[in-house]
Amino acid sequence: MMGRTCSGNCPVPFDIRSIARFPVGQTYRVGRVPAERLAAGTAGGHSSNEVDETKRNMLKLAVLAGVVGAAGGGIVGASLQYVSKPPLVGLAGYPKVQLLDLDGSPLTVTKVLSEYNLTTHEVITFNYPLTDEPNFLLNLAPPAGGSGGATNVPNGIGPQGSIVAYSAICQHLGCPAPNISYYPPGTCPQTFNGGSLDFYIHCTCHGSTYNAADRAANLTGPAVLPLPQVILEHDTTDDTIYAVNEIGPPVNGHLDTLQGSYGVGNSSQLSKQSPIVACNIA
Ligand code: FES
Repeated sequence: MMGRTCSGNCPVPFDIRSIARFPVGQTYRVGRVPAERLAAGTAGGHSSNEVDETKRNMLKLAVLAGVVGAAGGGIVGASLQYVSKPPLVGLAGYPKVQLLDLDGSPLTVTKVLSEYNLTTHEVITFNYPLTDEPNFLLNLAPPAGGSGGATNVPNGIGPQGSIVAYSAICQHLGCPAPNISYYPPGTCPQTFNGGSLDFYIHCTCHGSTYNAADRAANLTGPAVLPLPQVILEHDTTDDTIYAVNEIGPPVNGHLDTLQGSYGVGNSSQLSKQSPIVACNIA
């Protein structure tokens, strides 16, 4: 047994058993009392070869308490520091972030208008302002010669005011793209707003729907809030596009859109996924 193999040279700073044998409050003397002291009647005092175990044990307890206290106190202290002051990751304000195309080159309005339009059924996203906050990039204008769609929409950029960006995380329980994605006209025949809206953003998880033409307002539940909208800026000197702000409720899963992950930096690159489609619209 472990205890028996440790009888002569235990790996502890001192023999704890002596504390039990000689508890604090008792005096134990070792060594013999000289005969002359016995004769002189002074055997009650301490001699040079006597050990006051009370003092020794108190010292041992103090050392033990210090060791335990230092280790335990450090852990408790660190825990209290974390609880009272959790580490914050995020940004102090909304940065100006340049959007980059799928190949890493600067994204331009001209490129968006030529690549994407009302009928595009691909999930085009970019992260902003944090690395775990994806947003749809949409151009709601119809293809050349086509009709329908939406122009001059709230906060839309480009010559027709049709390029917008919304959070790609559902406001119900947080399903991200591509579970939530943009549905072009005809994908799942459905109309809203008196039959005038046949394109929308829809979440397959539980059926929430949002108005892509009007600030991503909620059209069907169970979500009740709109998707946050990223404010885009068009630099007409070189046709580039920047994300500069985000409005609406916080991104789902974040108490504050600016807190909870790291900022994307000075630029954010587009990515592309295939949509997941389910026509379970309430
Ligand atoms: S998470 Fe989107 S509808 Fe529930």
